[in-house]
Amino acid sequence: MAEAVTVEVQNGIAIVTIANPPVNALGHEVRKGLDAAADRIAGDADILAAVIRAEGATFPAGADIGEFPDVPAPFHGDVFDKIEALEKPVVAAMHGTALGGGLELALGCHYRVAAEGSKMGLPEVQLGLLPGARGTQRLPRLIGAEAALGMMLTGKPIDAAKALKAGLIDKIVPAGEQDKAAIEMATALMAQDAPLPRASQDSEWTAKDRSDPALFDRIRETHGRLFRGVIAPDAIVTCVKAAVELPFAQGIEVETSEFTRLLTSDQSRALIHVFFAMRDTAKVPGIGKETPLIDIKSVGIIGAGTMGGGIAMCFANAGIPVKLVEVKAEALERGLGVIRRNYENTAKKGRLTDDQVESLTGLITGTLDMDDLADVDLVIEAVFESMEVKEKVFSRLDAIAKPGAILASNTSFLDIDHIAALTRRPEMVLGLHFFSPANVMPLLEVVRGDKSSDSVIATGMKLGKTLRKTPVLARVCDGFIANRLMFPYLVASQNMLLRGTPMQEIDAAMKQYGFAMGPIALLDLIGLDVITFPGEVTMTGELVKAERRGQKLNGGFYDYDEKRRGTPAPAALEIVEKVRTANGIEAAPPLTADEVLTGLLYPVVNEGAKILEEGIALRAGDIDVTAILGYNWPSYQGGPMCWADIHGLPKIVEGLKAMGIEPAKLLAEKAASGGSFT
Ligand code: CAA
Repeated sequence: MAEAVTVEVQNGIAIVTIANPPVNALGHEVRKGLDAAADRIAGDADILAAVIRAEGATFPAGADIGEFPDVPAPFHGDVFDKIEALEKPVVAAMHGTALGGGLELALGCHYRVAAEGSKMGLPEVQLGLLPGARGTQRLPRLIGAEAALGMMLTGKPIDAAKALKAGLIDKIVPAGEQDKAAIEMATALMAQDAPLPRASQDSEWTAKDRSDPALFDRIRETHGRLFRGVIAPDAIVTCVKAAVELPFAQGIEVETSEFTRLLTSDQSRALIHVFFAMRDTAKVPGIGKETPLIDIKSVGIIGAGTMGGGIAMCFANAGIPVKLVEVKAEALERGLGVIRRNYENTAKKGRLTDDQVESLTGLITGTLDMDDLADVDLVIEAVFESMEVKEKVFSRLDAIAKPGAILASNTSFLDIDHIAALTRRPEMVLGLHFFSPANVMPLLEVVRGDKSSDSVIATGMKLGKTLRKTPVLARVCDGFIANRLMFPYLVASQNMLLRGTPMQEIDAAMKQYGFAMGPIALLDLIGLDVITFPGEVTMTGELVKAERRGQKLNGGFYDYDEKRRGTPAPAALEIVEKVRTANGIEAAPPLTADEVLTGLLYPVVNEGAKILEEGIALRAGDIDVTAILGYNWPSYQGGPMCWADIHGLPKIVEGLKAMGIEPAKLLAEKAASGGSFT
């Protein structure tokens, strides 16, 4: 294996090169290499200056996240301190994305040169961490606490131009010239023998920040939303306060202790799991780079309703022309009108120009004639959820579509294999399940039928990326992954309501857990007419009969004011009472928040275990990703399967039994053997 760090001395300059593909993460070998390089620079009299650069796509994009939580010495921060303490000038030559530990490495250098278009950021907060390699101490000294906290609390990178303006870097050079420019800078510095700027010793900003007593309150106010539910932002503020108020040596003690606390927290365990799970979903065993892809240059969509229109927008946004088919002219007009209004609203917010609205709507053509789909590469059916209707559509479509065209259904629960069997090309059929609103929601379930070919599946997964969504592969079953997973949650929440726990308490418990809204409010948002639950007399059924369809029409379980704030609806409470009586249910004392939580989440974990054991999902992480992206499951809880592992599987098995629910085989096995899902 090639060495992760090499040192080459040219004309008195040590050129230190990091080579650890794909993103030059600062793993153990890299740290050891940088540490040895610093020793060599200090001890070798022939070396008068140094440049730290990286091979490949990017300057290091951070610590090696896969190493966490056990990080063998030498530690990142100690290595960067050693580099900063050198008495010879060290210049960082940055390109690509200098993130996390990568940016902290650059902050430890005396000077920073960056390629045009490169980005700098401290995204640790997104992993439930903080920049623990002196980032919280050096950056505020360099650019001020407010700007530094802006970067650390949002985790969003800034571009080189902004970094130069802030004083984070010293120079921008054309892309590809960063190494040359850094060597030139080092050569000039070598001759000067001027004092070396060390971010750790910079006191201009800290003095200024100390004289601003409202500073930290202001920051909390500006970024208040980012503090909700998560622990890392508070820890970041604590560290930056230490940077402003204490000497560097004491500041790093605060940083180290806060970083260690976060690194061993459940939140960082969950968020690191999510980081890798999000990237793993695209990996399908047996399908590799060699699997031929089908080129999708044009698309047909059948159905111009909410779903069809949203899907059409996804393709237009990706620059792919769409033919939108409807049966009736009015429905087509309405659908095209909604699409135009959506784009115009985005333009009003300043996120699209008028020209862009025209070119995007221009990519979507309406037609009443399915025959117009004869030349498209992919057709997505998004009609009413009835097998009878879909049967008709697919039989016709099969006769119209050209050979080699992919036929997809956007069904959320119907049998893709049955649909495929209606065609003469079952290998070209798959499910492409979008979530509503399709142009916004980031999840795409790619449903693999028994006969779907590898090429068709590979193309479906690639399509996810093209549409800037996260594709997750599912097998055929009722509800696929996300909806099947969450069905027990929605059922259990209604049972709780029937058994006497007030709806606002059920919802509050789940908001406390981290959901943006609780399950009862979610039912109202989805629309009560869209959801059907089994049983003779159901609350949703009765509410719909009373013309209450949720947020969209007359309210549902809640009444809504003009700001969409809900209060429990008297009409709904009457219906709860009625259904309770009709089903002979006796009201019990309300459940505690903890009982609500376990009562709702344990059945979800159990369903997740079944989805996994039946092979519907490839891995537990895929289930977590669908919950996070499809149902807004709080990512800092890791999704249901990761949460279950952290919560304790034996406790869940016992809890399910106490609720009278048979634990899934896989769950019981893992609980008994001390195993885990993730
Ligand atoms: N550690 C380990 N692996 C990493 C990694 C990291 N920091 N960053 C990326 N990877 C891996 C990914 O898992 C992926 O692996 P697979 O191909 O096996 O799935 C591969 O590198 C490529 O990554 P992406 O698919 O994300 O590639 P991209 O081109 O879309 O994005 C990127 C590149 C912008 C660098 C993105 O990967 C990214 O944001 N990485 C994480 C950056 C980060 O969070 N850094 C902070 C780390 S924590 C830290 O540094 C703590 C500290 O203070 C010391």
